Amino acid sequence: MSDEHSARPPEGMRTLPRGDSAQRKGAQMTAPVVEVAALRTRLDGRWVHDGVSFTLRPGEIVALIGGSGSGKTVLLNQLVGLRHPDGGQVKLFGEDLARMGVEALQALRRRFGLLFQDGALFSAMRVAENVAAPLREHLPWLSAPLRDEVVDLKLALAGLPVDAACKMPSELSGGMRKRAALARALALEPELLFLDEPTSGLDPISAREFDSTLRVLVDSLGLTVLLTTHDLDSLWGLADRVIVLFEGKVIADGPVREVARIEHAWIRSYFDTRALE
Ligand SMILES: Nc1ncnc2c1ncn2[C@@H]1O[C@H](COP(=O)(O)OP(=O)(O)O)[C@@H](O)[C@H]1O
Ligand SMILES: [Mg+2]
Repeated sequence: MSDEHSARPPEGMRTLPRGDSAQRKGAQMTAPVVEVAALRTRLDGRWVHDGVSFTLRPGEIVALIGGSGSGKTVLLNQLVGLRHPDGGQVKLFGEDLARMGVEALQALRRRFGLLFQDGALFSAMRVAENVAAPLREHLPWLSAPLRDEVVDLKLALAGLPVDAACKMPSELSGGMRKRAALARALALEPELLFLDEPTSGLDPISAREFDSTLRVLVDSLGLTVLLTTHDLDSLWGLADRVIVLFEGKVIADGPVREVARIEHAWIRSYFDTRALE
């Protein structure tokens, strides 16, 4: 399962040429941040993933798309070590998750941030305390004033006004709650962000504003991002590359404009239906 050859694209997968942006050329020359090879997952008596392989390079924003139940959320859980795959390999920053000890995993956790669809904020804590939580856990020696400064900085980076800090999550709009969760995901200065449907449930204006914030963060902090989305505007406006999951396999992996042209029934229905919305 985990030999070198298993990282080849599965049969039938279309690998598309990369675009020619300077960033992407640079990215191709550096080591992958995420490597998924021949990953398999069995759930409810079926193979939800049946040989999924892809890589993410530094500075890329990659969108993972697929129908409801195609295994996007399960895959994100596997990438962050919350669930073990039934086969294949996941490497983050060159390290095989399955071979890592508890301490090494804990250290690795500081290098990525998570924004899960339902991984909401702690509802009984103020926004500032939510953002401070990972700092308290991972950097307990940080003095309270310094921690407060870091929290303020993260809230600002995520595009929240100063007065949001002392509010309870229930007092914020949906868009602001997502931003607060983003601030928390950024607390430990991760190099990599995993976002599960970050703009779902937001009105179109808040969704586009969220995308712009993300773009600025990626460009200024050099983050690498993997996000799942149903939002075609995020796909066109934000993603450098799109990976399509279908029936347990990656059926396309390339720049959005190229994947959008592929003659495959699911891909057509995905892009055509939404183009009319
Ligand atoms: N904890 C679980 N136990 C059993 N089946 C699960 C579990 N989590 C997800 N599944 C199943 O795995 C499949 C993929 O789910 P998911 O990754 O949530 O899909 P997506 O995020 O692409 O909509 C679904 O068929 C779902 O029912
Ligand atoms: Mg999901």
